Amino acid sequence: MHIPVMLNECLEALVTNPKGIYVDGTLGNGGHAAEVLNRLEVGGALIGFDRDVDALERVKDKLKSGEGKRVELVRDNYANMAERLDQLGIAKVDGLLLDLGVSSFQLDVAERGFSFMRDAPIDMRMDQTRGQTAAELVNTASETELADIIYRYGEDRSSRRIARAIVAARAKMEIATTGQLAGVVERAVGGRKGKKTHPATKTFQALRMAVNDELAGVERVLETMVHRVVEGGRIVVLTFHSLEDRLVKQFFGRHVPREESLQQGGVRRIYEEPSVKWIWKKPLIATAEEQSENPRSRSAKLRAVEVGV
Ligand SMILES: C[S@@+](CC[C@H](N)C(=O)[O-])C[C@H]1O[C@@H](n2cnc3c(N)ncnc32)[C@H](O)[C@@H]1O
Repeated sequence: MHIPVMLNECLEALVTNPKGIYVDGTLGNGGHAAEVLNRLEVGGALIGFDRDVDALERVKDKLKSGEGKRVELVRDNYANMAERLDQLGIAKVDGLLLDLGVSSFQLDVAERGFSFMRDAPIDMRMDQTRGQTAAELVNTASETELADIIYRYGEDRSSRRIARAIVAARAKMEIATTGQLAGVVERAVGGRKGKKTHPATKTFQALRMAVNDELAGVERVLETMVHRVVEGGRIVVLTFHSLEDRLVKQFFGRHVPREESLQQGGVRRIYEEPSVKWIWKKPLIATAEEQSENPRSRSAKLRAVEVGV
C-alpha cells in the first residue's frame, strides 16, 4: 500500500478555494488526490497526471467526476502539463501539488526493476511505454557517462570505482537484473562495511533519475506552471532527496522578492515574475509519529509557496 506522505500538511497548504481547479501532477495511488477531491465543493475540479500506465488504471475508479465536481486524468509527463491544460481549455489553476519520486507500488512490483530488494530485469522507467530502460543505459553508456550519472544524481563519491566495475562486469556478461547490478556495486565498494543502507542504493537512485530525466521534468513543470497559478494560489512540493529539494528551493528563491538599496536612496524589489511567498520559512518534515508509521516519510521535505503576492 502507498501511504500518502504529510497528507494534512499538503492539503492545508494547497486547497484555499474549494470551488477552484487543482492539479495533482503525481497521482501515484491517488492518496493526495482523493483528499483534494474530498475538500472540493460543487464547481471544483481536480486534474491528475501520472506518466505510469498502472497508476492511472489504479486510480480511475477512486477519482471520478460527480456531485458537481470535475475530474480529468491525464497520462503524461508532468513536464507537458501546461500544453495538456491548454487542450483541456484550462488557462489558470488554483493550486498544484507534486509528490516527487517513486510510489510504493513501483518499488514493490519486481518487474518494474526499481528495487534491488527484488531480482528482476532493470527497467526503472516510470512510463513503461517509451524511452531507454536502465538496463540499456547500464550496458551501453561509457564509463565516464556512468560515473557522471552516479556522481551527479547519486552524489556517490565511489562513482568512478562503481562505473569501472560495471564496465568490467558487462564485458564478461550483460548486466540484466537488479540483483546482478547490486552485486557488482557491492563488490566494487568492498561490501557493506556494516552500513545500514545497501551500497547500491545511490547508484539505483541515480540510474532512476537519469532514465526518467527527473530533474529536468521538475524544472520544466515549475517554470511553466508558476505562470499558470492564479494570484493567491499555491504550489506545494514534496521532495525525497537533496537534489530535488535544492532545485525547488533555488527555483522559488528566484521568485521571492528581495529588497536592494538604490544609490539615489530608496529600495527596489528584485525577483523573477511572478513573485511568490514561502508559506513556511523552512521546509516541513514529517512528525516523529508519521516517520515511525511510514518509513518513506523520513526523507520527505515539504515546501510551499503562494503565487503573486
Ligand atoms: C510518490 S508517487 C505519488 C503518490 C501519491 N501522491 C499518492 O498519494 O498516492 C509519485 C508518482 O509520480 C509519478 N511521476 C514521477 N515522475 C513523473 C513525471 N515526470 N510525470 C508524471 N508522473 C510522474 C510516478 O509514476 C508515481 O506514480
